[in-house]
Amino acid sequence: MKRDPFVPMPETAAAKIAEDHGLVLSKVEISRGPRRLLAIDGRVAPGSTLTVMGPSGSGKSTLFAFIAGFLDPAFEASGAVLLNGRELTRLPAEERHVGLLFQEALLFPHMSVGENLLFALPARLKGRKARHAAVEAMLAEVGLADHFHRDPATLSGGQAARVALARTLVAEPRALLLDEPFSRLDQELRATVRDLVFTRIRQRAIPAVLVTHDPADAEAAGGEVIDIGEGGSRDAP
Ligand SMILES: Nc1ncnc2c1ncn2[C@@H]1O[C@H](COP(=O)(O)OP(=O)(O)O)[C@@H](O)[C@H]1O
Ligand SMILES: [Mg+2]
Repeated sequence: MKRDPFVPMPETAAAKIAEDHGLVLSKVEISRGPRRLLAIDGRVAPGSTLTVMGPSGSGKSTLFAFIAGFLDPAFEASGAVLLNGRELTRLPAEERHVGLLFQEALLFPHMSVGENLLFALPARLKGRKARHAAVEAMLAEVGLADHFHRDPATLSGGQAARVALARTLVAEPRALLLDEPFSRLDQELRATVRDLVFTRIRQRAIPAVLVTHDPADAEAAGGEVIDIGEGGSRDAP
């Protein structure tokens, strides 16, 4: 049945859809043995970024592993992760459509920049020409038009960070997890790459979670800030 576009949705249904959209961390708790590593409960709206701060070892990367679907079996986790109303918690990583960006670009050294992006491009986009065009467009979007054939080893730090972002975005993630992705860049470059990342998050209306130690990153992210250092890490009763 096709909905008549001029008949407004009942308010409750519209509110329900709005509520479902984004990334929901519902009573997520992660422990290792008897020790509770962290507890977090919250929702990230599409296009906005939640910043998670906390000392080294407090479990930030572990939280990301849980959300993305590759938590090490040394940990136990409870609670649920929902993305746009769909529960991710029991899905394999490749079905979650969660993109990750790390401190290091982690490009395949034996592939060109373009080949790295082709590798991440969804398989449903068919045809060599169409696939190359999609990669060229993505490279242009991060200011690296004409870098398709570059060897990753010849890139500057800022260029590598842009390629890493392009490779993450070309996979069309429905949520983004940013694990200290700017911390290796110097001040000036950091501001540029950061703006690029948060602009893309807003334009694509993807919910994102950022881990950082830098208050300037949190400010640029412009969203809620959670400190898991305070009371997050304590022994379970
Ligand atoms: N695969 C693993 N197996 C066992 N312990 C781990 C593993 N990965 C991390 N840890 C431990 O879990 C804690 C949280 O690590 P991590 O999530 O990497 O912290 P953060 O990212 O906040 O610095 C640390 O004590 C770390 O040593
Ligand atoms: Mg970490």
